[in-house]
Amino acid sequence: MKTFETVEAYRPWRKGMLAGARIGFVPTMGALHQGHAKLIRQSMSENDVTVLSIFVNPTQFNQKSDFENYPSTLVEDLAMAEKLGVDAVFAPKLASALYPKGYRVKVTEDILSKELCGAHRPGHFDGVLTVVMKLFNIVRPTHAYFGEKDYQQYLLVKEMVEDYFIDLKLVPVPTEYESSGLALSSRNARILPEHKIMAPLLHRAMVEFDRVDDARAAVEDAGFVVDYLEDKHLENGETRRFAAAWLGDVRLIDNVKL
Ligand code: PAF
Repeated sequence: MKTFETVEAYRPWRKGMLAGARIGFVPTMGALHQGHAKLIRQSMSENDVTVLSIFVNPTQFNQKSDFENYPSTLVEDLAMAEKLGVDAVFAPKLASALYPKGYRVKVTEDILSKELCGAHRPGHFDGVLTVVMKLFNIVRPTHAYFGEKDYQQYLLVKEMVEDYFIDLKLVPVPTEYESSGLALSSRNARILPEHKIMAPLLHRAMVEFDRVDDARAAVEDAGFVVDYLEDKHLENGETRRFAAAWLGDVRLIDNVKL
């Protein structure tokens, strides 16, 4: 497995790929778990080569403490990537590798990015779209894999790919859940032991109650502080129930198709 820390180091390797090769890409912020493994396995089964990126992107955090506390497990992540058979990892250590002139040029969206998570985390999706645009331009994948747990993120990246005529296929991958019903997330590592038992109730309430207000009341009764829990009709014709809720200082998100 090749590992690259800079754009300059990665590019010659990418140039060596045969024209027409299928390059699968799984962008991550590390702290890899089985949800990421599912994205990697799917990419490997559908492409000639799979590239993983590991970069905790500072511009998508609207709270300094969240950025500073974001789990970092690079050694374990690289071991897992190697075991899974990833071909190359792009893992810049320094933010300046991706933001050489700081955060001056931004990709922004005006409607969906201001709703749901965007309403509670101002600037979050600008940071996500900006770094994903950079990563697409560096990695130059033919296929890119995004987890449906961050469905709003997937929809916004899809909008960006279409709007900027980016020549790749975006592949959404269904969320991976623990047997308890908790959606897998890198942030789960920070859930306090006393909150562990409550965490799966978020997903359970989202699927068990027909009325969104009843789901929200059940989640609040269980002790979560809810940012939002709402049903949303999407431009693609789907209706999904979206939620973000806090357990202590850990923010969990989930969504289900109705
Ligand atoms: O979903 C994530 O892990 C991040 O938002 C992403 C897509 C890697 C961009 O930093």
